[in-house]
Amino acid sequence: MGRDTREDAPAGMVDLHTHIIPGVDDGAPDLDSAIETLRTLSADGIAGVAGTPHLNASNPNSRRRDRADAVWPELVERAAEEAPGVELHRGYEIQLDTPNLDLSDPGLRLGGGRFALVEFYAFTVPDRSAEALARIVADGYVPIVVHPERYWGYDRNFGVVSEWRQAGALVQVNSGSLVGEYGEQVRSVALRFMANGAVDLIASDNHARPDRCPSLRDAWDLLARDGFEEKARLLLITNPRRILNDEMPLAVGRLAPRDGLMARIARAFRGGRP
Ligand SMILES: [Fe+2]
Repeated sequence: MGRDTREDAPAGMVDLHTHIIPGVDDGAPDLDSAIETLRTLSADGIAGVAGTPHLNASNPNSRRRDRADAVWPELVERAAEEAPGVELHRGYEIQLDTPNLDLSDPGLRLGGGRFALVEFYAFTVPDRSAEALARIVADGYVPIVVHPERYWGYDRNFGVVSEWRQAGALVQVNSGSLVGEYGEQVRSVALRFMANGAVDLIASDNHARPDRCPSLRDAWDLLARDGFEEKARLLLITNPRRILNDEMPLAVGRLAPRDGLMARIARAFRGGRP
């Protein structure tokens, strides 16, 4: 609805962070909501969606996993009939409420490969955050830090994001952050990460609820409008697809400021860099 006036979006976008599996967490309340959301995403050009319910590192075998396992076959069956353009994958969004995360169970990882979505506790960057990520890397896995732009406590010091990346972690920004879904401050931080080449992929964090239903197409439209189609393809298509294939994503690099929103953000944040 209302999409036809926007930039044409490419086929094949892959969304690796959603709460589309119904009745598991604060995401899709029921199967009908999940299917309706998948139909909308399909119309937006999304070809692949990973359902990634919340889990805590301290309790990775909670009943949420049982509920997700129980509803998954029916979700796949109905999606094949009613949203046939979208392939479904599985993973979890794991909160590091303890720095010791055991990822040896492939069911905790995106598509069973080496990558896993992680977030820090209470939207705050903890002390020694890079050490926690390095520990996961030392175990042979690749943590993807989700929506760091939504965290508090940077105090304009974005060096910690460089520490994460040097530790071997990847960074995922929410498409909704880029278009102001979480407010101007979060949008500014997200665009700053992008401008400084600190982002490996964009995902939606779609919760299949009316107030939390963003699409990767929002990010495509924003980036395409400012002339960043090539970067957008890396962030929205190539890199999430490579992650599903258990391949390291390609370097995206900086989004050099030009005229438009990115340039305004870059000017606003001139000085310092992540
Ligand atoms: Fe999420």
